[in-house]
Formats: sequence, structure tokens, C-alpha cells
Amino acid sequence: METGIRRLAALSFLLYTVYSPCLCISSSKQINPLLYDEQLLWVSGAQGEVNTYRIPLLTFTPKGSLLAFAEARKGTYADTGAKFLAMRRSTDKGATWSPTAFIVDDGSQPDGLNLGSVVVDEEVGSVILIYAICFHQYLCNPSSTMMVESRDDGLSWSTPRNLSVQLGVKNFAPGPGFGIQKHYLPAKGRLVVCGHGTLAGDGVFCILSDDHGRNWYNGAALKSIPYNQKKKALDFNPDECQPVEMMDGSIVINVRNQNSYHCRCRVVVRSRDGGLSLPIDDLYFDYNLVDPAVAAGALMKDGVLFFTNPSNEQHRVNLTLRWSLTNGNSWVQQAVQIWAGPSAYSCITSLNSGSTEDQKYIFVIYEKGHKDYYETVSFAKIHLYGGH
Ligand SMILES: *[C@@H]1O[C@H](CO)[C@@H](O)[C@H](O)[C@H]1NC(C)=O
Ligand SMILES: *[C@@H]1O[C@H](CO)[C@@H](O)[C@H](O)[C@H]1NC(C)=O
Repeated sequence: METGIRRLAALSFLLYTVYSPCLCISSSKQINPLLYDEQLLWVSGAQGEVNTYRIPLLTFTPKGSLLAFAEARKGTYADTGAKFLAMRRSTDKGATWSPTAFIVDDGSQPDGLNLGSVVVDEEVGSVILIYAICFHQYLCNPSSTMMVESRDDGLSWSTPRNLSVQLGVKNFAPGPGFGIQKHYLPAKGRLVVCGHGTLAGDGVFCILSDDHGRNWYNGAALKSIPYNQKKKALDFNPDECQPVEMMDGSIVINVRNQNSYHCRCRVVVRSRDGGLSLPIDDLYFDYNLVDPAVAAGALMKDGVLFFTNPSNEQHRVNLTLRWSLTNGNSWVQQAVQIWAGPSAYSCITSLNSGSTEDQKYIFVIYEKGHKDYYETVSFAKIHLYGGH
């Protein structure tokens, strides 16, 4: 009898262990990431009409497809010059990918398009891409903020729309990374896209939409010092940035510290009013996130904050994944190196379907090379519980 009960208890514990999604997932202490699969999505090197692929973005659509984007730089590897906006699409969570589609072509402009932020509106099922043209004002004027939109899961895209008509003329480089749709109060449903200004007029700026991208207006601004003046080494110059929404509804923005003010590490700022303001009271420097001044990836998933960057004070090498169980107040000691060699910009995504399977993975897209970081754009699937 007693053995029977014990057996039953053992069996039910076993069943609980095997079938309960909570036991293995909710205890985030067990996170032990494993680089599970990796594919090169784009290879630079003067193939066809493209010289260099850079500035990768990655997102899931509301229907669960993965979309990867990059600048396809036509003539040179430079930030200026003419480009295509390249996209690849996966309907099997990154196992296979469509051929590259060029969804925007800026022709032969001396200072063409620059990515960019991708933002998914779950409420209407759209994917919006916001980018700049003539950002550097190299042989062109003025700089414009542009938007394209897909309402069919990334298969087709609208013609570009000029958001500067609503926002006013300004040098604004969104992201690079993703914009967010607020899931929690305040301003639930709002689209928040953050980026930076020109080198003199730099800073973090957010643009907002409360009607699914029809109308946009200017939100928070965290300006560089001295603003609109030529910078010196070590000036305060917040630059490229990635916002994430925390579970209390505040938006935390992880920012490139362009002139290494105070540290060679990341700047972190927070908006508690849905992207309207970025008070200096909430700004801090995260000394643990050492950084060579680069665009980094961040993602909040099931209460865990993830972060990717080339973790090195001087050089764009050593692409590293970190995670925090305390909203970024501290980072788990154990970090995972994704690539030791040259590596630079990165972007993280995951699918929040509620299924146990989708809780196990995050996906990282990043610039990767052997000699130079802009040789390829790589897609990495990471199993969060695979490294046990
Ligand atoms: C976008 O709109 C602004 C403001 O009306 C204008 O100055 C600029 O030339 C426009 N850009 C393009 C590419 O049409
Ligand atoms: C790579 O990053 C890890 C984690 O920050 C660090 O401990 C290590 O020193 C870095 N290596 C290089 C070569 O930068």
C-alpha cells in the first residue's frame, strides 16, 4: 500500500516535471543559453548590385513569421550612398528563409536610406518600418523620416510615406533595432520608436503614434551636451538606442554612449510616461555593460531582460549575450559568447505565443566577420535552457 502511494507520488512528480511548462520555465535561474543554430542571411562582397549588408533588424510578425531586414549598400560599405532595403522572411521560425526581397530602392542617391526601426502593431496586425533618408545631408537636403508598412505578414509593402510632414524636418535616425507597442499602462497600444539625431544635434529622441501609425508626433528628447555644437572627446552624447517595455509599464532605453562620457559602457534611461519624457533623474551608466560605442540588442521576455553587444571597451569583437533577472539592476555572472571575432550591431527577438516551445528560444541577428564585422549578417537561434 505504502509503496503504491510512493510510486504514485513518484509518477505524478515525473509527470509534473515532464508536462508542466512552469517547472522548467518559470524558474528563470535555470537559464543556461546554448547557441542552437546559426545561419548567414547575407554575405557582403560586391555580389550583384550590393557591396555590403549592414544594420540588421529582426522581428516576429503577429502571425508568427520572422522578418529580417538590412541595408543593402550598393556602391561601398559607407553609411552614405545609395541602398536597397533588403528583407528575408521565414515562416518556420528561422529554419528556412525566403530569397532576399528589396522592398525599398532609393535609386542612386548620394546619401540614401538608413535603417531603422521595425515596430509591430499587434492590435491591427501590421508591421511598420521607419528609416531615414539623407540623414547625413551629404549632397542632399533636408533629411526626412520615412515609413513603409505591411498588412499581409511582410509579403508586400506600402510605398514610402514621408513622416517629416507630420514631425517637422529633423535629422532623425531611428533605432537601429525595434520600436515597441506599449502592452501596459500608461498609453497602452501606443507605438514608440526611439532613435538619435545628427552628430552635433545628437541625443535620444522618440516619436510616438496613438493611432497605429497614421499620425506621429515628437515625444521624449534626451539631448547631448553641448547641444547643436561640435562635440569633443568624452562629451555627453547619447546616440543609437533600443527601447524595451518593463512589466511596470515604464520604457527602459539602452543607449550607445558615443563619446564615452563617464565610462566605456552603456547609458540607460527610463520613461515612466509612455515615451513623452526621459528625465535625467532616471539616467544611469551600466558599468557591467562595457561597450566600444555601437548599436546593441535588448529584449524583455517573460520577466528576463536580455542584452547583446560586442563586449569590449575598445573594439567591435566578442559578441556576448547577457541576461538579468532584476530588470537590469544586476546581470547574471555567466555570460555567453556568441562570436569571439569581429561583430558589431545586433537585434534580438522572440515569439510570445504562450506555448512552452516558444518560451525556450530567443533569436539574435548580428553583424559578424573574420577580419571585419561587416562581412556577413548572421542569424542565431538560442535555446535558453539548452546549455545544461
Ligand atoms: C518630407 O517632408 C518634408 C516636410 O514637408 C520636406 O521638407 C521634405 O523635402 C520631404 N522629403 C521628401 C523625400 O519628400
Ligand atoms: C568578452 O566578454 C566577456 C564578458 O564581458 C569578458 O569577460 C571578456 O573579457 C571579453 N573578451 C574580450 C576579448 O573582449
